[in-house]
Amino acid sequence: MTLAPENSRFSIKKPDDFHVHFRDGEMLSLVVKHTADKFARAIAMPNLIPPVTLTEQALDYKEKIIKVAGNNSFTPLMTLYLTDRTTPEEIRKAKENGITAIKYYPAGATTNSDSGVTDIKKVYSILEAMTIHNLPLLIHGEVTDPDIAEQDREKYFLENHFREMIKDFPELKMVLEHVSTKDGVDFVTQSSDKIAATCTVHHLMFTKEDLYRNGLNPHLFCKPVLKSESDRQAVVQAATSSSSKFFAGTDSAPHPRRKKEGDNPSAGIYSAYMAIECYAQIFEEAGMWNGETLENLENFLSTRGARFYGLPENQEVITLIKQPQAIPASFPIGNDQLIPLKAGKEIQWSIDAI
Ligand code: NCD
Ligand code: ZN
Repeated sequence: MTLAPENSRFSIKKPDDFHVHFRDGEMLSLVVKHTADKFARAIAMPNLIPPVTLTEQALDYKEKIIKVAGNNSFTPLMTLYLTDRTTPEEIRKAKENGITAIKYYPAGATTNSDSGVTDIKKVYSILEAMTIHNLPLLIHGEVTDPDIAEQDREKYFLENHFREMIKDFPELKMVLEHVSTKDGVDFVTQSSDKIAATCTVHHLMFTKEDLYRNGLNPHLFCKPVLKSESDRQAVVQAATSSSSKFFAGTDSAPHPRRKKEGDNPSAGIYSAYMAIECYAQIFEEAGMWNGETLENLENFLSTRGARFYGLPENQEVITLIKQPQAIPASFPIGNDQLIPLKAGKEIQWSIDAI
């Protein structure tokens, strides 16, 4: 495999992050700025407390995000949180007001998912309305059955739920968010072009061995949990391939240090700060350097997702340069801290002159 020589540089269209958690309150302005500094657009997840279930709430949240972004060219793309009580009327309203997608959390599957859907069949009238209005469904694809091991929850979701959902709504665009397994990759690959998946930095870089080395590392704890090396390789293979179905969604999910390091650590990894640079390193390590550019990186970061969502491609560009830089050990958040992915470690790529 050829690695890129030091100081190699190339430009790509400005990336989009199709899955990010901006939170609210103290966290909001720091994490929004980190994303807005580097990405053109980002899909803001709705699992706030209380969840963003109504169009009006999403529009208020959007305004708040824009206010703190400090970058006029950044566009947050908004989502609604699907609950058993969502109405078809709300879907129509969401579409009319430029909401980008609807997020489906099976109740209890992950952080702040208590208000999630208890049985997908209960919201079939909503999926129908979404099909009519062409609003994609973004899926946290894990079963919640406590008898099923964490490692197997994505796989069980595919066969026990996702397959039937696709059969019942073949025209509905659906995204298997944060795909983490070879089963997930294969399932999406074999499905129609209405079905896509986002790939996170952490599922592309780390495995369950990293998570459990020296006891559980809470800063690598997320849902879906990190999987085996063969799963990681399958996700890398998908992301770096020429398939139009796999694109970047960091699932960057910040939690204050005290919530990560206490008992019952919150699930979620904060990766947005260096996500683009990390994706570049992943592509390089996967052998994608062709002497001029990292092959398919621009497609993965900047064009496939936009195409799937029917959004225009970004006109601005960023330049990546192979120059190592250190990731900060932490960021201050009120009187707590936020610990980023790879805190204190080096990353091989930088973005030139933002
Ligand atoms: C996310 C969060 O913290 O909001 N956590 C996570 O582990 N990914 C929720 C989610 O996307 O599952
Ligand atoms: Zn998420």
